[in-house]
Amino acid sequence: MEIVPSQNVIGAEIHRVELAQPLSEAEFGRVEAAFNKHAVLCFRDQHLTEPQLIAFARRFGEVERIFLTHYAHPKYPEIMFVSNIKENGRDIGHADAGSVWHTDMSYTARPPRATMLYALEVPMEDGVTLGDTLFSSAADAHDSLPTEKQQRIAKLRAIHQVAGRRARTGTGQQDQALRKQQPAVLHPVARTHPHTGRKCLYVSKGECEGIEGMPQDEALMLIDELADHTTDPRFRHVHRWRVRDLLMWDNCTVQHLASFDYRWPKHRRLMHRITVDGTVPV
Ligand code: SIN
Repeated sequence: MEIVPSQNVIGAEIHRVELAQPLSEAEFGRVEAAFNKHAVLCFRDQHLTEPQLIAFARRFGEVERIFLTHYAHPKYPEIMFVSNIKENGRDIGHADAGSVWHTDMSYTARPPRATMLYALEVPMEDGVTLGDTLFSSAADAHDSLPTEKQQRIAKLRAIHQVAGRRARTGTGQQDQALRKQQPAVLHPVARTHPHTGRKCLYVSKGECEGIEGMPQDEALMLIDELADHTTDPRFRHVHRWRVRDLLMWDNCTVQHLASFDYRWPKHRRLMHRITVDGTVPV
């Protein structure tokens, strides 16, 4: 196995490994250490059945139940379809996942440690791949804040609500009824990574509605400032997809954004998505 870090502050490719076979404890230890260090890992050219994908995800922890159940794989409910494909006029999967910078399911009490996307169809135009996924390091963003700012936010908690600002600003309209059932939760503005101990900024414009005990205007200004800082280009890594990529990311260390530069029915994009249990942010 070979671990090839990207040129960016996050991201690595793991070569010479076949995830269809169970990894030995030693191999898994190297993958997990690389995951904690680089936060976004890509395994190219993987040929995975659904049970093999689920088995690999389980090495990192319990696989989560999907709350948007109508996008779940009919035989493997741990897997959600992320796709722009329509059948009989209906989306077969979550079609606007990742339309704003965010970290997965921060609006839940125990957000997932990791998300995996396995690429089955990748949109192309004139030989150019579309639908990149962008990542940004919330850990490096925190590290680069002035000490006074780190101290100011150290004890603050933000209010996360999935049917919140993003829904009101026009994106994330899908599945509003289900989203509204998710109660708001409070999480530290800067959370501590459970494995690396690094502090990571943990707010996004789309899903943070306010800050506990702070006037709304002031809170939204601070959230927006920190969110913009988190996604500054110097902390970014862009993943350009190939069919049969297995990509996984750490939802504490990074935020991500999907690019929607492809259109149905001209382009087709299909991913299998799976999330692994995390810890309560502290
Ligand atoms: C997501 O935000 O979970 C999906 C990202 C993507 O489809 O590129």
